Amino acid sequence: MYLLIPAAGSGRRMDSEWLRQGTAQRNKLLLNLLGKPLLAWTLLAAEASSHISWIGIIGQPIDWDDFTTIVTQLSFTKPIHLIEGGSTRQESVYNGLQALPPDAKHVLIHDGARCLATPELFDRCAQAVLTCAGLIAAIPVKDTIKVVDQEKLIKSTPDRSQLWAAQTPQGFSVPLLKKCHQEGRRQGWEVTDDAALFEQCHLPVLIVEGEETNLKVTTPVDLAIAEFILTQRLN
Ligand code: CTP
Ligand code: MG
Repeated sequence: MYLLIPAAGSGRRMDSEWLRQGTAQRNKLLLNLLGKPLLAWTLLAAEASSHISWIGIIGQPIDWDDFTTIVTQLSFTKPIHLIEGGSTRQESVYNGLQALPPDAKHVLIHDGARCLATPELFDRCAQAVLTCAGLIAAIPVKDTIKVVDQEKLIKSTPDRSQLWAAQTPQGFSVPLLKKCHQEGRRQGWEVTDDAALFEQCHLPVLIVEGEETNLKVTTPVDLAIAEFILTQRLN
């Protein structure tokens, strides 16, 4: 199974963490998490998944030396490819899709920032994508969600029993996802995950049970929670 890891962001919402570490703003995936760069934990889970056999890391060239050092230090056995990212996640994934070998039929896409996804979740998604065109890992929403207007007035309260929080991995048929990305570029759709492109093209996307601990490290609080969860796992 092919795996693309979008890792070309800058981590703007992680700002204060960089200030605390006394460093200029860099990719948040290079932040230290229990003695390793955050991205190393994501890669270790992909390495441990029995289904993943090819990994493409989509990053900005300024980070490639650091990514190469991470891969070398972790002694990976799986082939790892560096792919140049774009200015949005959507563009980054588009570039990743172009870099897949021509024989790639299915692909998993997993955000570098979700460093707590387990190898079992990768395996579950990798198996399921063989029998459907598109899927995402997701979990039921715990909070009551409000739709709010510009004036911060509540417009509606969607029925929570129908709400799921999207995660990655997300898995797709490669030709279909490529078509959806092409259509998205043509129509100027701006999306924050790949399933949204599938949805816009009226293609079915299946939910696979995700993991509550599979958080996307976005703010300094997330980093602290990730550190806590990893510490628990390692003890
Ligand atoms: N990503 C990417 N290319 C971009 C932007 C984001 O590959 N141009 C990746 C990030 O590296 C991350 C994933 O997409 O692994 C999810 O994005 P997000 O959590 O928003 O990360 P950042 O964009 O780096 O953070 P922020 O939005 O706070 O700047
Ligand atoms: Mg972002």
